[in-house]
Amino acid sequence: MEYLLYGLVAYILGSIPSGLIVGKVGYDTDIREHGSGNLGGTNTFRVLGIKAGLIVTLADILKGTLAAALPFYLGADVITLVIGIFAVIGHMYPVFAGFKGGKAVATSGGVILGVNPLIFGVLLATFFIVLYLSKYVSLASMVSGVVGVIATLLVQDYLLMIVLSLFTIFVIYRHRANIQRIMNKTEPKITWM
Ligand code: G3P
Repeated sequence: MEYLLYGLVAYILGSIPSGLIVGKVGYDTDIREHGSGNLGGTNTFRVLGIKAGLIVTLADILKGTLAAALPFYLGADVITLVIGIFAVIGHMYPVFAGFKGGKAVATSGGVILGVNPLIFGVLLATFFIVLYLSKYVSLASMVSGVVGVIATLLVQDYLLMIVLSLFTIFVIYRHRANIQRIMNKTEPKITWM
């Protein structure tokens, strides 16, 4: 019963379409109609600039952290990581935005931050190293998931390994079009790094 309750709360939290809210309220723009069309932080940076991009990225991270931390602080008898999965599903398939959401990156990161800040640090460091070397946000997102899974093996946190593997599968699956564009050399590169 607790899993059902906290899972539902996590799904609803994850479903909050921060990219849509920030775009519509602050800029009268639906970011789904611009750039990559993705409802995520990267596309918000691309379409609306640094300030909006940062707000959306932080909000999407926070959704995951909150969903994972809430049952922990309320003393619920659930595995917080499992609850976090529902937040990521909400982010990808949001009930408040026609089930068309983001690519699982920031919200997955937020869940990991709430559960194991060290592994989150590995994800973040890998992300920026790959971004610096390749200039592809999408590639940096996917590689950081894979490196994160390896890190969980090194610290022998097998539950985290399973959940982060699932998140990484979500991330890669949601980046199918990006992978195609990387192979075709048409994926946009960032220019600010
Ligand atoms: O977080 C999503 C990012 O990895 C790619 O976004 O808009 O370039 O498809 P986008």
